[in-house]
Amino acid sequence: MRRFVVGAAIPEGVLARVLQAAHAAPSVGLMQPWRFIRITDAALRARVHALVDEERELTAAALGPRAEEFLQLKVEGILECAELLVVALGGNRDVHIFGRRTLPQMDLASVSCAIQNLWLAARSEGLGMGWVSLFDPQRLAALLEMPTDAEPVAILCLGPVPEFPDRPALELDDWAFARPLDEFVCENRWNQPPGEPGPGQPAPAAGAGTASTVPSQSV
Ligand SMILES: Cc1cc2nc3c(=O)[nH]c(=O)nc-3n(C[C@H](O)[C@H](O)[C@H](O)COP(=O)(O)O)c2cc1C
Repeated sequence: MRRFVVGAAIPEGVLARVLQAAHAAPSVGLMQPWRFIRITDAALRARVHALVDEERELTAAALGPRAEEFLQLKVEGILECAELLVVALGGNRDVHIFGRRTLPQMDLASVSCAIQNLWLAARSEGLGMGWVSLFDPQRLAALLEMPTDAEPVAILCLGPVPEFPDRPALELDDWAFARPLDEFVCENRWNQPPGEPGPGQPAPAAGAGTASTVPSQSV
């Protein structure tokens, strides 16, 4: 969500519940790498917005021919939303090895689970949420006086919204279109459609059905 009801507020109890839902997320090795910084200072919110707006311009420049089209999109609601949260990875994460020896990025995956929980809990409370990732992490970390081994991951805009559109905003703006599930599921090897024989396997006997667990129609 990028459009919010200006001047609205979130009751403290509701905010506590959505944060509790985030904190109930699964995490690799139970490391709970998430940190939540609530931005309540209006001047600080304006500085966060300025950082995002700078990155919005740089993103537009990097997009080349789609720059102007991108600049027409609404890509954040930082100044309008009722609550602004910055979610970060905490420091000292290297001590957590369980589940991260070969995949250290599982700390980020765990934080993403927490943010998804927050997103769904907010929706069930009738609130909208927008995830903003247009920022320079080092500059945001400096602004919020984070230790050098912590890392901001998301700026979350949270609050009452005028409406919940029934399609992604980027589709409504003709920017990008979601593709159906069956383009993302394969079986036994990369890009093999479900139900087709695997490497070195015979084709299934006529009438035997398929081993597919995923319906092939679009969702
Ligand atoms: C990790 C992540 C980062 C995102 N960053 C941004 C962002 O910086 N600006 C923005 O407008 N939307 C951002 N989004 C929102 C997605 O673009 C949006 O959820 C998706 O297009 C679906 O559209 P809808 O939210 O309008 O339904 C982000 C979403 C995710 C999951």
